[in-house]
Amino acid sequence: MLPDLLPDMLLAWYDRNARIMPWRTPPSQKQAGVRPDPYRVWLSEVMLQQTTVAAVRDYFTRFTARWPTVADLAAADDADVMAEWAGLGYYARARNLLSCSRAVVRDHGGMFPATRDGLLTLPGIGPYTAAAIASIAYDEPATVVDGNVERVISRLRLVTIPLPASKPELTRLAAELTPPSRAGDYAQAIMDLGATICTPRSPACGICPWRDPCAARAAGVQAELPRKSPK
Ligand code: ADE
Repeated sequence: MLPDLLPDMLLAWYDRNARIMPWRTPPSQKQAGVRPDPYRVWLSEVMLQQTTVAAVRDYFTRFTARWPTVADLAAADDADVMAEWAGLGYYARARNLLSCSRAVVRDHGGMFPATRDGLLTLPGIGPYTAAAIASIAYDEPATVVDGNVERVISRLRLVTIPLPASKPELTRLAAELTPPSRAGDYAQAIMDLGATICTPRSPACGICPWRDPCAARAAGVQAELPRKSPK
């Protein structure tokens, strides 16, 4: 299987199966060329760290109704933001949200930087979030690597070294697969694949777009990967 066919197989699957989420551009708008709003991408990615999609949905809808732009959030009272965050946990994220929104307004004229490297300079934005925003909002071919991506790549490429030692290798393999265009769709496609098909315990290989090229499936060990070192 030529490596450059793999992204297209996944993107064709995503075009039919993308999960509908309040921070994603609906297909009709996407066709009209509407780009995702970096503020909404950033907010959703911060909320989705350590929290499930199901739990984030309503919080995201309430936040964006109350503070529709990064400038609105930057001008909010800290206590109001903390109160709206209540229940999501990991409260450092909410404090970072405020510092980051204020840095975007103060240092960047209210516009999120448009590159991964620029995004990395903002408070609370690490490698994962910077790559997610750069790819989803700006289509920069930056590679997102979260738990879902680690699982999908370790199976596709039969990486049998355990995590966390395998992280550099998984990151390298994931970057090698990232296509030069549609990087944002690709990033979300691989996350959706990991969340809905290439699941930890009983992956649904029968309906997987990467069934044929998957090295772990060929070896019959997909449910055993990724291996993890004992803590
Ligand atoms: N998990 C974190 N970010 C996500 C996204 N943009 N789509 C699906 N799952 C995610």
